[in-house]
Amino acid sequence: MTAEIIDGKALSLKLREAMKEEVTKLKAAGIHPKLTVVLVGNHPASKSYVNGKKKACHETGIDSEILELSTTVTETELLQQIHKLNNDPTVHGILVQLPLPGHIEEQKVIEAIIPEKDVDGFHPINIGRMMTGMDTFLPCTPYGIITMLQSKSIPIKGQHAVVIGRSNIVGKPVAQLLLNHHATVTTCHSKTKDLKSLTKQADILIVAIGKAHVIDESYIKEGATVIDVGINRLDNGTLTGDVDFQSVKEKAAYLTPVPRGVGPMTITMLLKNTIKAAKGLENREG
Ligand code: GUN
Repeated sequence: MTAEIIDGKALSLKLREAMKEEVTKLKAAGIHPKLTVVLVGNHPASKSYVNGKKKACHETGIDSEILELSTTVTETELLQQIHKLNNDPTVHGILVQLPLPGHIEEQKVIEAIIPEKDVDGFHPINIGRMMTGMDTFLPCTPYGIITMLQSKSIPIKGQHAVVIGRSNIVGKPVAQLLLNHHATVTTCHSKTKDLKSLTKQADILIVAIGKAHVIDESYIKEGATVIDVGINRLDNGTLTGDVDFQSVKEKAAYLTPVPRGVGPMTITMLLKNTIKAAKGLENREG
């Protein structure tokens, strides 16, 4: 079997076209969706992600601003900036790019953003809302993954989904979303015994390890759907996933590439959440 590729870039373009029209309508009604991204320090990968978010906002007609703070900014100063953004009615979405320097407590910063502007979906209130199946901002990467599965009408209900990785950003929330969609979910991580025996049972395998080419065809059940969340830069500068694409594509039914896979979808769902935030705020004011 040769896998059908789920092109996250093409799907993103399609979704962003529809969002562009929605933004035009909102602007005509006097609502100008705006995202503020806070970038602390000059971590090159973070800088590149943040620039990607800014460009995507611009192309969709969403106002955006990058608040660049020095790596030596204190936790108190950062929290003060967030309070300002919380109280700025022109800002609908706030995203603090992670990771933060070691002297700043990330969880404190996440909890400082009011849930109504938490377009990352990382605030404990929004996580709780997601867990109980309520309407909320879904974390962007998991939301993008579900959207990719739905775009190909890949069944989730009753399927065995195996997630490798248990981060708060990807592994845990994607497992929860798959469960919300009635999958049977297994979450694996670095301490899991006999990983392969579990991944070989997966109808849907989500790989979020953070290490290049760990998962080859020997981990895959024939006909599985494989979603590669990894973004690894090799010594020669090329970007690659956690999945050995060439090997797995001969065995899976569906496979996401890197680049042009989950990455662009993460940004697309951020745009969607920002539009949702802009509409939500306006509803409350009305
Ligand atoms: N760093 C890596 N991924 C993310 C993300 O989705 N949101 C934020 N805020 N930081 C990240």
